Amino acid sequence: MRWSGLLLAAYIIFHLLHLTGGVVGFRAGQFVPLHPYQNVVAAFAVWPVALLYIVAMGALCLHLDHGIWSILQTFGWNTATNEAKLKIFSRVIAIIVFLGFTSVPVSVMAGWLH
Ligand code: HEM
Repeated sequence: MRWSGLLLAAYIIFHLLHLTGGVVGFRAGQFVPLHPYQNVVAAFAVWPVALLYIVAMGALCLHLDHGIWSILQTFGWNTATNEAKLKIFSRVIAIIVFLGFTSVPVSVMAGWLH
């Protein structure tokens, strides 16, 4: 949790400088404010950037896998009989979030978005 949390904190700072500010990851004049579609396509056409996002979403997935389960436990919703099901539930949500977010860089790299 500590390492995935630190990686996510670094990711969020990079992400805001990248796709919100256009301060990093773009050539001069390439980032167009208020044109997120074009910016996303230009951003993920650079495969190391796309890979960085996919790795960060992996960290998010691991963080959520444990984090969702942990929240449910804190609420006291786990019992001896439902514990295994709650762990599966947390993992399924984490995987859905991972697939949803990574679908964006993957779609650009695959040429489905241009
Ligand atoms: C592959 C995954 C992701 C993609 C493709 C993506 C894409 C974007 C884009 C295009 C913007 C700029 C929107 C605009 O300028 O109108 C943005 C902003 C933002 N993203 Fe992401 N994002 C991703 C993952 C995440 C994650 C995991 C978080 C949070 C943990 C996050 C938090 C934010 C925040 C806080 C903003 C600033 C809000 C804004 O600019 O309107 N993003 N994202």
